[in-house]
Amino acid sequence: MALKVGLLGLGTVGTGVAKILLDAKGRHPLLSSLELGKVGVRSHPKPRAIDLPDALFTIDLNTIVTDPNIDIVVEVMGGLEPARTLILQAIDQGKHVVTANKAVISRYGEEIYEAATAAGVYVMIEAAVGGGIPVIAPLKQALSVNRIQAVMGIVNGTTNYILTRMQDEGGDFENILTDAQQLGYAEADPTADVDGLDAADKIAILAALAFGGRIDREAVYCEGIRNVSAADISYAEKLGFVIKLLAIAKLPTADNSADNIQVRVHPTLVPTGHPLASVNGVNNAVLVEGDPIGQVMFYGPGAGEGPTASAVVSDLLSIAASLSTGQNPNPLLACNHDHTISVMPNAEVVTRLYVRLLVKDTSGVIGKLGTCFGNHDVSLESIVQISVQNNEVELVVVTHAVQEGAFQKALAEIRQFPEVTDVPSLLHVL
Ligand code: NAP
Ligand code: HSE
Repeated sequence: MALKVGLLGLGTVGTGVAKILLDAKGRHPLLSSLELGKVGVRSHPKPRAIDLPDALFTIDLNTIVTDPNIDIVVEVMGGLEPARTLILQAIDQGKHVVTANKAVISRYGEEIYEAATAAGVYVMIEAAVGGGIPVIAPLKQALSVNRIQAVMGIVNGTTNYILTRMQDEGGDFENILTDAQQLGYAEADPTADVDGLDAADKIAILAALAFGGRIDREAVYCEGIRNVSAADISYAEKLGFVIKLLAIAKLPTADNSADNIQVRVHPTLVPTGHPLASVNGVNNAVLVEGDPIGQVMFYGPGAGEGPTASAVVSDLLSIAASLSTGQNPNPLLACNHDHTISVMPNAEVVTRLYVRLLVKDTSGVIGKLGTCFGNHDVSLESIVQISVQNNEVELVVVTHAVQEGAFQKALAEIRQFPEVTDVPSLLHVL
């Protein structure tokens, strides 16, 4: 018997999902067991990218999540509310849920998964991280036999698209952002992309799966790309780096005690030879490091209609497959954590840093900076004098791996030096 799908949202992702469901030929045979039952939108009628029978539409989304004929609810409307409430209502009505909504899952995952376990239904989230790249299923299944030490990557297509074009063309941030929105990559409110919030949602989800515990979303350190300047992109290039917005979740040591982990998002100087350095445009990549597998990288289109719909429908297929065997719940599809993992305070994180300073062109200033960093146990890898203009010198300092708190204390002192006129940028280095 066909499984009826109720679609909440027919925007970029919802349209892609409907297209696949309505054109199953040449895809997995189980797709023919899925039938589009209802479509919920905010405004109807309105011109749409797909032509669907009028009878499928409703603007009352409650009628979808409470409809006894709907078996699986696909939430691709976005936002926190009413998405969270509709997901919970669907679960309460015994429906399986597929969602692409990382904002809801990273904040309300605990509530949602507890409700799903109690109701005996699946909540699937492949599209919430990495767009079309299969990364959630591998973490739950193939990689789960490993002890994971780190999961890191480029998980926001919009910012990677913007940084790549800034790198390639030296283009203007605002114009490139407009292009990203027109291409359907950026969220309706691009703040979540540009300020790193979307990447922080995603790394919280990946870290929970990789390390087997809940992550407090509010504890994730998050810095976006608004302050990444053309100057830093160009200096980084000269030093052998590209700048990427990285999301990082890492154990503090290799002893595999999954507690006090680093979970962070920030623009990062990535050495040009690193696998993540060549991930460009809207593509995403997630690098997983585990024992015994070593390093494995997932790469592909991180946003957009087709790729994201592919991930959503793969979840529908997994549910259909499990239901067809009658052996439920399938533990490899589940996602239950019974404890919260503590996140390391920023000051304790050990990392390399890049800082650009403007100083007066006077003798002894470089020595003074070196002494101050040394007094705080901040070991320097290089100090490069970039330019001299109007009696002012531009310096770029790159540290070895140092404690971030110690570095910040040194920098606070340095900012007070009469020779230091400005500190235009501070970035992390991988
Ligand atoms: P979108 O293009 O803005 O589409 C949202 C859809 O939901 C629209 O059809 C809209 O109806 C409907 N909707 C929104 N709020 C509603 C409400 N309160 N009541 C009824 N209908 C409502 O969004 P999207 O880009 O497809 O993204 C959907 C979800 O997928 C988000 O959680 C997003 O983070 C996630 N995601 C997106 C991508 C991507 O590349 N776009 C990739 C991965 C994950 P109308 O059409 O009537 O306005
Ligand atoms: N706005 C998101 C991005 C969509 O640019 O990556 C995919 O989650």
